[in-house]
Amino acid sequence: MKVSLCLPKYSTIFLFLALAATIFVLRHMEVLQWFEVSGSKLEQARENSTSKEIMFQHEVNSSINTTIIVPRVSTVPDMHQGFCTFKPLSLKDAQEERLLLESITWPETPVLPDPLSLEKTTDPAHSNFIILPPQREGGQWHVGDQLEVRINMYDFEGHPKKSGGDFLLARLHNLTLGAGVAGHVVDHLNGSYSAVFTLLWEGSAQVQVTLVHPSEAVTLLRRLSNEQPDRVRFQSIFRSGPISETTFCNVCLRPTQLPVCNYTDVRTGEPWFCFKPKKLSCGARINHFMGGFIQKLKKKEENLFQSGVNMKVPIRASGPGNVTVLPKKEGQPEAKSSSSLKSGLSGYYYQGVWRSLVATTVRQFNPPAISQCLKGKVVHLYGDSTIRQWFEHLIAVLPDLKEINLHSHRQVGPFQALDYANNILVTYRCHGPPIRFSSVPISELRYIANELDDVKGGTDTVIVIGIWSHFSTFPIEVYIRRLQSIRRAVVRLLDRAPGTLVVIRTANLKALGLYETLTNSDWYSLLRDKVLRAMFKGLNVHLVDAWEMTLAHYLPHSLHPQPPIIKNMIDVILSYACPQRVTRRLFDWGGFTNEDVGIH
Ligand SMILES: *[C@@H]1O[C@H](CO)[C@@H](O)[C@H](O)[C@H]1NC(C)=O
Ligand SMILES: *[C@@H]1O[C@H](CO)[C@@H](O)[C@H](O)[C@H]1NC(C)=O
Ligand SMILES: *[C@@H]1O[C@H](CO)[C@@H](O)[C@H](O)[C@H]1NC(C)=O
Ligand SMILES: *[C@@H]1O[C@H](CO)[C@@H](O)[C@H](O)[C@H]1NC(C)=O
Ligand SMILES: *[C@@H]1O[C@H](CO)[C@@H](O)[C@H](O)[C@H]1NC(C)=O
Ligand SMILES: *[C@@H]1O[C@H](CO)[C@@H](O)[C@H](O)[C@H]1NC(C)=O
Ligand SMILES: *[C@@H]1O[C@H](CO)[C@@H](O)[C@H](O)[C@H]1NC(C)=O
Repeated sequence: MKVSLCLPKYSTIFLFLALAATIFVLRHMEVLQWFEVSGSKLEQARENSTSKEIMFQHEVNSSINTTIIVPRVSTVPDMHQGFCTFKPLSLKDAQEERLLLESITWPETPVLPDPLSLEKTTDPAHSNFIILPPQREGGQWHVGDQLEVRINMYDFEGHPKKSGGDFLLARLHNLTLGAGVAGHVVDHLNGSYSAVFTLLWEGSAQVQVTLVHPSEAVTLLRRLSNEQPDRVRFQSIFRSGPISETTFCNVCLRPTQLPVCNYTDVRTGEPWFCFKPKKLSCGARINHFMGGFIQKLKKKEENLFQSGVNMKVPIRASGPGNVTVLPKKEGQPEAKSSSSLKSGLSGYYYQGVWRSLVATTVRQFNPPAISQCLKGKVVHLYGDSTIRQWFEHLIAVLPDLKEINLHSHRQVGPFQALDYANNILVTYRCHGPPIRFSSVPISELRYIANELDDVKGGTDTVIVIGIWSHFSTFPIEVYIRRLQSIRRAVVRLLDRAPGTLVVIRTANLKALGLYETLTNSDWYSLLRDKVLRAMFKGLNVHLVDAWEMTLAHYLPHSLHPQPPIIKNMIDVILSYACPQRVTRRLFDWGGFTNEDVGIH
């Protein structure tokens, strides 16, 4: 099906495209990136426009003097959305995907005016929250009660918002006590929200409500997902002898007449494609790397993402922002919030230490206790850089755990560390593409599911998986399908070696600038985090709730949480790996005693 094009005809098309692109750019002040048109006019417009291209390393030469192949994008509905290729699904998986998509539907958000003006958008400075009076007689709060906060949103003109969809976070804390807990936010879809907290410690507790994004910013984040799932660019270098070529790669490759190499993984079915190099074969691909980011917004739209104005900005209390919590009242039921919402918390901090509200008691492990716990064990860490942090933490705190690094790249790995005397092996390996690392050699580009299939498993094996942040820019189906294949491998592993401990790390909150938001907003993480939790629910795996652990902590949000948070996370894993002999009764939301919640 290969058809050669003659040159003159081609030039005409090329010229037309160049012209069309230029006009488009001038009209919309956007970069039409996909036609790699050279020419000073376009270059200039590019520089003048509000669009930016960051970290762009290699310009591919796609002067299209080549052959046409049949368009790559399938017409089978299940196979593509726009120009992204999705892994085909079984009926059961497809049904699960539909349910997951339903479960993460976000409220409708406003249509944006063009050019954007902020006046009618949510303004945290005009918004406020109020602590609702206690439901209990006597007007006081006690440990175990629920505290409800009503949040009222206003726009920049001071008018109340009439619709929902703002992304809010809520937290209750007391720095002196080293205490903090996540709140549960409910959108009433009319411009008001509730945040519900469970009161878990005696003393003062301060409410903190943060606007992460106004609903209008969510509109934009959604649009980027639909229209620019390829805004983070990936590339590969191909090499053979003296010849070297670089092309673009993605699961979302815009259809062109260019031939494409299909790197779909045979075992998992995970799709991945690169444009074929002109001189070299598809087999000459030597690496994978992030080749830049294209920021393409309409006029003034970046104003929706201003730190200190409307992105991750605290909302003030109208009235007192704190409460005093009295000891638990024995023999009386707890006061529930009027919304009677279940908070479903994983835990909370007290004296800077994470206390679990699910089955396992979190213990503190000093370095000798870590070595004792891991003695005779192998720990495999798979995932992104937030999992790599745990490898780094372990080799930093355990003097006898020596890293064996055979020239691995600091960012990419793979890494191994051995404590010979205690027979402890810890490994780290990054997940398969898409991964925004600087350069992963093809030989190290592995899918977690395949790696798990090669693990023997057993009671001496700890598997830790953390995969989330590199999927933010893609349609969520890409993430769902990746998790489905990982879950299948986890199930196979637990079937053949039921004693294996499998720990899943959830997504965490991060610091947001404009670039971070467009590529990796907490809003994208939130939806993926929900999918992740649903995906592994009911399996014999344990969660490290990085979301709550970063939300509840006093330290600022960071893609790579700071050491005190990492230590708490490691303590959670080790508590699963080496549980206390005496099992505590399972936590039940009907009532706590101080012993339950660890307050003495
Ligand atoms: C870009 O800006 C320069 C200087 O401001 C101007 O001379 C030029 O005409 C502009 N080019 C385009 C294509 O808008
Ligand atoms: C692109 O390739 C053509 C022919 O292969 C060559 O003439 C041209 O200089 C190249 N352009 C760039 C920017 O590398
Ligand atoms: C481009 O096509 C012309 C004629 O179709 C051919 O002579 C030339 O070698 C080709 N160039 C490249 C770089 O493939
Ligand atoms: C919004 O809805 C909530 C829940 O239904 C209600 O309590 C509240 O009064 C409403 N607020 C406004 C401003 O209509
Ligand atoms: C924390 O609680 C204690 C005891 O109630 C109180 O004295 C202190 O002021 C509180 N600290 C903060 C930062 O709220
Ligand atoms: C890519 O390869 C996989 C299997 O290797 C195949 O199932 C799939 O149809 C191919 N995709 C395209 C677009 O050719
Ligand atoms: C609670 O907030 C009030 C002001 O709203 C402040 O005066 C008081 O010191 C705070 N109490 C604690 C314990 O933080």
